[in-house]
Amino acid sequence: MLKKQLLQISTWFDSFVTAFKAESAQEQRNYDLKIEHTAKVRNNIELLADSLLLPADKRALASIIAICHDVGRFPQYAKYGTFNDATSVNHAALAIQTLKSEGILQILDEVSRDMVIQSIALHNVFLLPDNLCPDELLFARLIRDADKLDIWRVLIEYCTAQPEERASAVVWELPDTGLCSDAAINEVINGRMINRSVLSSADDFKLLQISWAYDLNFKETFVQLSEHGYIDTLAGLLPDQNGCHGAVSAVRSFIKSRIVGASYL
Ligand SMILES: [Fe+2]
Repeated sequence: MLKKQLLQISTWFDSFVTAFKAESAQEQRNYDLKIEHTAKVRNNIELLADSLLLPADKRALASIIAICHDVGRFPQYAKYGTFNDATSVNHAALAIQTLKSEGILQILDEVSRDMVIQSIALHNVFLLPDNLCPDELLFARLIRDADKLDIWRVLIEYCTAQPEERASAVVWELPDTGLCSDAAINEVINGRMINRSVLSSADDFKLLQISWAYDLNFKETFVQLSEHGYIDTLAGLLPDQNGCHGAVSAVRSFIKSRIVGASYL
C-alpha cells in the first residue's frame, strides 16, 4: 500500500517549501502561488481518480505525482526569478533532479518511482509520445488534466487581480497589442492546441489557454472545466475580434461534445 508513502511525501513537501523564503512580499507571492497550486492539483487529480474508480494504490500514486510535479518551480524561481522555462530551465527536469538529490522517492518501490519520474517529465510536454504503456499514459494524462484545471484558475485570478496583488511571474512578457494574431486564431478554429512558438501578443496567451481544452483527456475534466466557467471567463477577456469569437465557439462545441457524447470515463 502506498498510503504511508503518500503521507511521508506530503510531509516532506511541506518542509521542503519552507526553505524557500523571498526577500519581498511580492516575490513571496510567487512561492505561495506554487504551494497553493500544488494543493489544488492534488485535489483535482484525486477528483479525476475517483471519477475513474481507480484502486487505492493508483489513487495514492496519482496524489504523489501531483505533490511532486512542480517541485522544480521552487529552485527555478530562487535561481532565475521566473517561471518561464524558455528563459531559464525546464522545470520538470529540475523537479526530477531535485527529487533525486533530496532522496525522497527512495521510499517508493522501483515501479512507482519510475512512474512518478516519467509522469513529471511528461506533464509539461506539448504532446505525449505515442509509445507509452497503459499505466504511463494514465498517469501522464491525469497530471496533465489536473494541472491544466488549476492553471486556468491561476491565470484568471491573475488577469482579474489588481496589478499590485498579482504574482509577477505568472504571465510571460508578451506585447499587449490588444489583438489576437491570425496564426493563433487559425490554430484554435482548426481544433489544434496553440504551440508557444505561435504566440505574439498577450491576448494570444489567453487564446493558448483556451486551446488547452483540446488536450484534455477525461470526461470529468471537461465537466470541471465547464462547471468552473473558465472558458467563458477567458473568452470575456479576449479582444472583440471576429476571429476570437469563432475560435471560442469552436472550443465550446468541442467541450460540449466531450461531455454529452463521451461514453468513456
Ligand atoms: Fe508544471
